[in-house]
Amino acid sequence: MTEMPKEKKKKSNNDDLAFKAEFKYSSSKNPYNDRLQVFDQFVLQDEQGESHQGKWSQEVFNNELPLEVEIGSGYGHFMIEHTQKDTGHNFIGLDHRFKRSFHLAKKLAKLEHKNFRYLRARGERLSFLFGESELTNVYYFFPDPWPKARHHKKRLFQKKFLDELYKVLKPGGLMFIKTDHDGYFEWMLDELKGEKRFSLEIKTFDLREEFPSHFLASFQTKFEKIFLEKQIKIKAMVLKSLKK
Ligand SMILES: C[S@@+](CC[C@H](N)C(=O)[O-])C[C@H]1O[C@@H](n2cnc3c(N)ncnc32)[C@H](O)[C@@H]1O
Repeated sequence: MTEMPKEKKKKSNNDDLAFKAEFKYSSSKNPYNDRLQVFDQFVLQDEQGESHQGKWSQEVFNNELPLEVEIGSGYGHFMIEHTQKDTGHNFIGLDHRFKRSFHLAKKLAKLEHKNFRYLRARGERLSFLFGESELTNVYYFFPDPWPKARHHKKRLFQKKFLDELYKVLKPGGLMFIKTDHDGYFEWMLDELKGEKRFSLEIKTFDLREEFPSHFLASFQTKFEKIFLEKQIKIKAMVLKSLKK
């Protein structure tokens, strides 16, 4: 019997899929998936967060305070400092790494003000997690830069993301960005070319030199500390939604 040639398996681009409705998380095999459940009072995993789309303040926080999101909270330096200092907002931190999320959840459990939730989830799901004009601020600090050209498609900040961001930010809502990486920063500026839905409130290739008193210069995340020690200049921008 002649053997049929095996069909070449088409590689699925999971990063691209994550922007789409049909995307499904497949987390059950990760050992930290179960361990994170100990923190289910404030940690939501996979699609769980998406069930509160458009209703976070009423369903989850039981108040009408403005809602903020940090994409890629990592070790939580910003999330912890910011939520404990500013109790006038509801705050969602999210990251897609399991082990890092587990270690952060242990720290979050000890905090006094529980004005936050943590999502073990992906930033690409922004418009599935949040409703139209639900967010006041989005924070995105030291994102993975995906420096190789063949990986650029994995960069979160791209046209599709800007569409999602525009949906979920309220009129005048802001996105705050810091990065060490020249290439990713220039990529972001390129993606913003011709963009009529946002204004660039600030754009700097050296945050601490140009804007030493700006809110963005008032704290250091874990990764930022490492880059500053290496004397790498911090690139930053603030986008404002021009939605009416
Ligand atoms: C370089 S670390 C920076 C962490 C933190 N913001 C800081 O400045 O210390 C980037 C973080 O983003 C997370 N991340 C990368 N891509 C993501 C995505 N698509 N959705 C959610 N988190 C993501 C990574 O797991 C990692 O924890």
